[in-house]
Amino acid sequence: MASIDIQNIKKAYGHVQVLHDVDLKIKDGEFVVLVGPSGCGKSTLLRMIAGLEEVTGGEIRIAGNRVNELHPKDRDIAMVFQSYALYPHMNVAGNMSYSLRLRKTAKEKIASAVANAASKLGLDPLLERRPKALSGGQRQRVAMGRAIVRQPKAFLFDEPLSNLDARLREQMRAEIKKLHADLKATSIYVTHDQIEAMTLADRIVAMHGGVVQQVGSPLELYDRPANLFVAGFIGSPGMNFLDATCETSGVRLKDGTLIPLSAPLALSSGAKVTLGIRPEHVVMSDQGGMRAKVELVEPTGFGIILHLSLHGLPFKVFTLDREALTAGPEVGVSFPAQHLHLFDSEGNRAG
Ligand SMILES: Nc1ncnc2c1ncn2[C@@H]1O[C@H](COP(=O)(O)OP(=O)(O)OP(=O)(O)O)[C@@H](O)[C@H]1O
Ligand SMILES: [Mg+2]
Repeated sequence: MASIDIQNIKKAYGHVQVLHDVDLKIKDGEFVVLVGPSGCGKSTLLRMIAGLEEVTGGEIRIAGNRVNELHPKDRDIAMVFQSYALYPHMNVAGNMSYSLRLRKTAKEKIASAVANAASKLGLDPLLERRPKALSGGQRQRVAMGRAIVRQPKAFLFDEPLSNLDARLREQMRAEIKKLHADLKATSIYVTHDQIEAMTLADRIVAMHGGVVQQVGSPLELYDRPANLFVAGFIGSPGMNFLDATCETSGVRLKDGTLIPLSAPLALSSGAKVTLGIRPEHVVMSDQGGMRAKVELVEPTGFGIILHLSLHGLPFKVFTLDREALTAGPEVGVSFPAQHLHLFDSEGNRAG
């Protein structure tokens, strides 16, 4: 296994720059998850690491060695895609062993590598089957098995579970986590799924418009998002934002409500800020608090999402309290100081 160093990586297609000076050091054995909106450059970055896409500027090092000019097959990296990309005319064992056969690995070695991966992935009874006789989840397992038998320096996953139904995703997610604990393989994993990102990652890299916004542990990004983009992107339902103005004793909302803060702000009085509060951190009350109109009640089974209108703007609350199901036309909301997020006029975290 190996570390992956990405230094000042740029990518342009003609005049369109899609990655801007991406810097990322991935430690040997680390599981890093890339998240960001569609088109922000996640797949492009993975493909450059794999050697499937040319680098416009900067350097990629795998295990300390520059690989920019290296052919994909010489980088010793395995990629697992959303489309499983299995060979339809080969059975499971044939698909899994293909890369080793190409390398003319000894027969006994191939057999033991395939047997080993098959038992890890629960594929033993399926080794003779062709891909068309497998379910989506089984195909994805074969794609992973094919990556594992190569014992590559690193694994790159590009939304590997997004074709699977919710139940199967949940199961595969847990299996990937177990597999990582077992193999300790350096992994970069792209996903749109918040839970996958939070549960699998040692560190999450949040990207937007080809620029890395924040790198940190899942809870660092959740608890202390570095800017408005990360604050709004991580967490579901997403964080609420309200415009406010700084005062010595707190921040004042547009309707005149003063929200006290737990610590003094480094911003001067009168500075414009954005106040953020997660739906699950809002405290609701029948009386008191800021009055908000109830627009919609969404029971999710696990909890309840209330869509409110606060000062005329959409505002969400998430609660486990079933009484919210029968909420009246109005509820009171208040914001505990320890759960407030503040962002300056540039959108960066303030305090
Ligand atoms: N061959 C290409 N030529 C021109 N532009 C490209 C090419 N490949 C990708 N792009 C552009 O580069 C940007 C990044 O694409 P990329 O596929 O990396 O996004 P992504 O973050 O993986 O998105 P998604 O979540 O939808 O998969 C997009 O704006 C895309 O249109
Ligand atoms: Mg992509």
